[in-house]
Amino acid sequence: MHSFKELIAQFSQQFDQWHFPEEPKRLYNAASHILQIGGKRIRPVLCLMGNELFDDLHPDAFQVGNAVELFHNFTLIHDDIMDKAPIRRGHQTVHMIYGEPAAILAGDVMLINVYDMLNKVQSKYKQRIINVFNKAAREVCEGQQIDMDFEQMDPEQVQYDDYVHMIGLKTSVLLAASLQLGAIIGGGSDGNQEHMYAFGKNIGIAFQIQDDFLDAFGDPDKFGKQQGGDILVNKKTFLLLKAFELCNAAQKAELKTLLATNPDDKIARVLDIFHSCKADAWAEKEKERFQQQAFARLEDIAVLSARKKPLMELADFLLNRQQ
Ligand code: IPE
Ligand code: IPE
Ligand code: MG
Ligand code: MG
Ligand code: MG
Repeated sequence: MHSFKELIAQFSQQFDQWHFPEEPKRLYNAASHILQIGGKRIRPVLCLMGNELFDDLHPDAFQVGNAVELFHNFTLIHDDIMDKAPIRRGHQTVHMIYGEPAAILAGDVMLINVYDMLNKVQSKYKQRIINVFNKAAREVCEGQQIDMDFEQMDPEQVQYDDYVHMIGLKTSVLLAASLQLGAIIGGGSDGNQEHMYAFGKNIGIAFQIQDDFLDAFGDPDKFGKQQGGDILVNKKTFLLLKAFELCNAAQKAELKTLLATNPDDKIARVLDIFHSCKADAWAEKEKERFQQQAFARLEDIAVLSARKKPLMELADFLLNRQQ
C-alpha cells in the first residue's frame, strides 16, 4: 500500500518522461506547455488507488493513469477556450500563448495519444477499459455542453439539481471512471467496481463545488486561475443559484443588472452579494453531504478498512484544497 504522496511521486516520475515529437513546434509546444506546468494529478492517482485497493500495483494502472491525465489536460485546453480563461496553474493558458488554432489542435492530438496509450493494456481487459473510458469521455462532452448552455440561461431557469447533474457529467465521471479503471486492473468484482464508481462520482461533485467556491473566494496565487472567472462569463454555479434563492428583492435586481451589463466592478459586486446572502456557507454543507454519500459507498466495498485509508485521505485533501 502506498500513500497519496508516494503515488503522485511514482506517477509523475514516469509521466514526466513522456514527450511529444519536435515538429511542428507550435502544435507540440502548445501541448507540452500544459503538461509542464503540472497540476495535482489526482485522476491517475485515483486509478492507482483503485488498483491497489484490490491487488499490487500493475504497470497497466500507470499506462491508464497516463491516458487519463493526458485526457484531462486535453479537456483543460479546450475548456479554457470555452471559458475565456487567461490563467491556469498560475501561467497563461495555452490559447493565450499559442492562439486558438494551435490550442484546439494540441487538444486533438493529445486525445489521439490517449487512445494509443489505452490500446497498450493487456488484452484480457482492454475492451472493458476502453468502454468505461469512452462512456466517461462522452459524458464530459455532454456536461461541458450543458455548462455552456446554462451560461446563456437566466439563473432562475436553472435548478440546483440541474447544476448537480451538469457537474456530475463535466467533472465527476472522470474521477469515478479513473477509480473504476484501476479497480478493473486490480481485479475488483463488478459489484466493487460499481461502489468505486459511485464513491468517485460523489467525491467528484463535492470536488467541483469546491472548485466553484475557490473560483470566487480562493486565493488566486494558490488556486492558479483568474479570480471571478466564472462570474465574468455568467456561469450557473451553486453560488449564483443559491444567491438567487436566498437574497432579497433589491439584491436580486442588482444581480440581474450585473449579469446583463458586465460593469468593470462586476466581480466585486457579485461576490459581495454572494457573501451577504450566505451562498458561500452552502458549500461546506453540500461538500459534507456528498462526502458522506461517497464514504457510505466506500464502506460497502468488501476489503479491509485499512486498505481504504489512502482513498479517504485523498478525498479529505480534495474537498479542503485551496489549489
Ligand atoms: C480542474 O481540475 C478542472 C476541474 C474539473 C475543476 P484539477 O483541479 O484537477 O486541475 P489540475 O490538473 O490539478 O490543474
Ligand atoms: C471544468 O470545469 C471541467 C472540465 C475541464 C471538463 P471548470 O471550467 O470549472 O474547470 P476550471 O475551473 O476551468 O479548471
Ligand atoms: Mg468550464
Ligand atoms: Mg474552466
Ligand atoms: Mg472552475
